Amino acid sequence: MEPIVIPYVTGRLLVVADLHMDHYLRSAIDPFSAHGLDQIDWSGIDALIVAGDLANNPTQTWPTVFRYLRKYIPSERTFVFPGNHDFYWHSFDREGELREMTEAAGATYVQKRVLHHGSTCVLCCTLWTDFALGGNTRKAMHEAQALLTDYRLIASRWSFDPSSTVPGLARPRAATPADILALHRDHREWLDAKLSEPRASTRRRTVIVTHHGPHPATAGSQDTLTAAFHSDLSDMIARHRPDYWFFGHSHRRLAAVVGNTDVRNVSVGYPDESGFPGDRPLRDLCVFDNPVERR
Ligand SMILES: [Fe+2]
Repeated sequence: MEPIVIPYVTGRLLVVADLHMDHYLRSAIDPFSAHGLDQIDWSGIDALIVAGDLANNPTQTWPTVFRYLRKYIPSERTFVFPGNHDFYWHSFDREGELREMTEAAGATYVQKRVLHHGSTCVLCCTLWTDFALGGNTRKAMHEAQALLTDYRLIASRWSFDPSSTVPGLARPRAATPADILALHRDHREWLDAKLSEPRASTRRRTVIVTHHGPHPATAGSQDTLTAAFHSDLSDMIARHRPDYWFFGHSHRRLAAVVGNTDVRNVSVGYPDESGFPGDRPLRDLCVFDNPVERR
């Protein structure tokens, strides 16, 4: 697929993840105001990228999310892709509906898509996880399935199940860690292939935007579930040396420089979260500014 061109005006992109709009609606709090993002000069932002977890139950909530985002930036400058929560009460085989809702709102769906913005190349995908962080993939997969809501609220397949004993019954099948691992391998291969293309390396800057975490340096304190949130893509970072890697998922707004790559967690997070040790202000992390590279 051809890259999507974002018209270059100011050189500024704003990247956030984990909007969790349904939680903010229940709390009657504006998620951007909660982080001071309402004070940003939005007329000077060329595009907004939302890196997943817009809201649970997308069929019900995504249209509301797009109405909210339109308060800040026109939909034609809004780019989104899903996180794990965007598949709650939904399914992987109905991802096409997420694209349709995005397009109906006038925004752009950028799962496994390349964006060009001036001389910057932006690669977007959910990424998921390989469960390998910590060295015991099998155990991490087992713990994730036992403890995370994802494996009760995400279906891998919603459509008609031919093995059903009730003819015509559409029976959702719960997602498994093996499904997530397969998605991760697919997204990782896609990223690696795109980063290997000459057109990516000749552009002066490369920015990667994912939902899941790419490196333990921005994971914070680790526990039995850390591998469900972050992978260790040190090899990919060392080989391709992207300039920035924005992500979310863990809601820990940590940042680190890995090799030459500025890795930043840009989660909005839940309204009732009190913050994590080492958290940085979202406003300091979420703007990518490329003012000197004019087309
Ligand atoms: Fe989240």
